[in-house]
Amino acid sequence: MVIVKDERMSRKRTYLMCPPERFTVAYAINPWMDTSAPVDVELALKQWQLLRETLARLGHTVHVLPAQDGLPDMVYAANGAFTVDGTAFGARFRYPQRTAEAAAHRAFYEEQGTWAYVEPTEINEGEGDFAYLPDAYGGMILAGYGFRTEAVAHSHAQEALGRPAISLQLVDPRFYHLDVALAALDDGNIAYYPGAFSAGSQRILAQLFPDALLADEADALAFGLNLVSDGRNVVLNAEATGLAAKLTAAGYTPVLVELSELKKGGGSVKCCVAELRP
Ligand code: ARG
Repeated sequence: MVIVKDERMSRKRTYLMCPPERFTVAYAINPWMDTSAPVDVELALKQWQLLRETLARLGHTVHVLPAQDGLPDMVYAANGAFTVDGTAFGARFRYPQRTAEAAAHRAFYEEQGTWAYVEPTEINEGEGDFAYLPDAYGGMILAGYGFRTEAVAHSHAQEALGRPAISLQLVDPRFYHLDVALAALDDGNIAYYPGAFSAGSQRILAQLFPDALLADEADALAFGLNLVSDGRNVVLNAEATGLAAKLTAAGYTPVLVELSELKKGGGSVKCCVAELRP
């Protein structure tokens, strides 16, 4: 009998996504957005649909938030809130073009009727800048600042959610959200691109996660770290072939998806998927 050591375990997840029906690049609030580049909405929708089906096929539940007029970035549902143990810490967007998205997410949580919703007082862009590791030190929040979320919002999230938040400084504008530079691979470990972080934050990550999977710049630029993992299956951008190989070597199962149109807005898999942690 062959004993497979360290077999990766998947855990059923619940996600929230919003279709790119109104997707366009009409303004530029991150270095990836080029307002002169045409966007193919049909293709964006097709790619998004495939991502949704992929998550469902893996056994996960996907809720859909209806797209709203005038909110082209609403497809990046990860930015709408950050949930831990039944509490939804609401978002407050940095740029006025996205401000109204927060209320749409709030309405979703209130309609579900099972969430304690916390209205934020400071700028924070939800799971774009917050990650949660339920098994790391008994439950830990990793929180990014530098471009979007205000560092003071980290302590507010910590207080609202009752979990320690580790503040990490992002220093490269191409990696303007935490979720394009770092991802939870399972309940206790992460993958990240060190170059996206300040020297001090790199030391913190090395101290807390000595077994982390380190991505290189090419992986990060291919939006490989903007991934969604269920602990075993790691759904990531098809262009991130280098990272996919590293994931396989580490015992995970990479599931590649094409999201080229949504990359034009500066996001990929994770940006489109908010995890709901009841
Ligand atoms: N165009 C969006 C913005 O700049 C992209 C958001 C990407 N979302 C994410 N979770 N990183 O706000």
